[in-house]
Amino acid sequence: MTISTATRLSKIPFSSIREIFNEANEMEKRGIKLTHMEIGRPDFDTPLHIKAAANDALQKGFVHYTANQGIPELREVIAEKLKLENNVTVDPNKGVVVSVGCKEAIVGAIFAFINPGDEVLIPDPAWLEYQYIVELAGGIPVSIPLHETEGFILRPNDVRDKLNQRTKMIILNSPHNPTGSVLPEKILKEIAEIAIEANLLVLSDEIYEKLIYGEVKHVSIASLPGMFERTVIINGFSKAYAMDGWRLGYAAGPEELIQPILKVHQYNTSSATSFAQYGAVAAYIGSQEPVYEMVKEFDNRRQLLINRLLEMENVSCVVPEGAFYVFPSFKEVGMSSKELATFLLREAQIACVPGSAFGQYGEGYIRMAYSTDYEQINQAMDRLDLALKQLRVKGNSILEV
Ligand SMILES: Cc1ncc(COP(=O)(O)O)c(C=O)c1O
Repeated sequence: MTISTATRLSKIPFSSIREIFNEANEMEKRGIKLTHMEIGRPDFDTPLHIKAAANDALQKGFVHYTANQGIPELREVIAEKLKLENNVTVDPNKGVVVSVGCKEAIVGAIFAFINPGDEVLIPDPAWLEYQYIVELAGGIPVSIPLHETEGFILRPNDVRDKLNQRTKMIILNSPHNPTGSVLPEKILKEIAEIAIEANLLVLSDEIYEKLIYGEVKHVSIASLPGMFERTVIINGFSKAYAMDGWRLGYAAGPEELIQPILKVHQYNTSSATSFAQYGAVAAYIGSQEPVYEMVKEFDNRRQLLINRLLEMENVSCVVPEGAFYVFPSFKEVGMSSKELATFLLREAQIACVPGSAFGQYGEGYIRMAYSTDYEQINQAMDRLDLALKQLRVKGNSILEV
């Protein structure tokens, strides 16, 4: 007997990077040491005061379902944070839903607003989940290319070019995965103008907002005039507080946009984990020193990685201003990004993600996460340099060995 899957799943693949991860696992089983630059999470532990708060809640018996939208204490501190840091005022009772990671909030927002046939504008390259969540909801993802020559900053005219009667939503992600670009306020204002003219809903994924370097500032598009009523802010605790395994995020915005998301959330997960939510309260109200320390360390690694990559022949690289990724171009090397990722794994023992895993415009690039320590990065870059030099001598036949 065969049981067919729902048609909505028929076009949805498992991740295209599985072969590379499988090969990396095999290599490690054989005792080969790899540098892991593929993982999109901090290599730090959750700060102790956050763990202590969750532990305390657990000991006190906060082990039951919470309100669907999350515990009131957490919604209050989220609303305060949004006011203070993002200049956005939300009602903690009606304008915040605490979710199981940002991802659940993104699924909620897309399922709450996207009808079959609705078009959703998505920068390309992007975190590929957006595309597949839109497709699961029956929507049509529409790519807006990002260009290396523009520092991977969305061009407002490219957004205009893709508009039509079916366009319902635009997804923004700044700081950006996989390129590390940060949308400047000037561009956000132009995108805001388009969103207002075309009556678009904006899903603003701000998960990397605290991982930002130098003088660059994060601006939430929801804080711009006329934008609050059409923006769902997505944020969470996975990256800045090294809490990815805690699975906590949120959607915030006006009641009219958040209550429909709450409806999806209610039938999906009921509520996020009770005691974990107390940890998240501590994350926002407690010392931010661990975040600053982590960002300082990421910044040092970022500079090291960029300097090392830029010294290499046939490699170009935009300097990322946020998140913890670099997205160098290896187009001059003359391999597909998947072949190149395989090459880097086999010849330089570096596990990383081919740019094509982030969309068609990611082809020719490689995403390297610097969530690995300084020394490892340095050693990995020595091996990469050597492998590229050997490749120039031997040609691509190195892959067939
Ligand atoms: C752009 C982006 N948004 C959301 C997420 C998911 O965050 P969470 O762990 O809160 O679900 C990720 C994780 O890598 C991401 O890169």
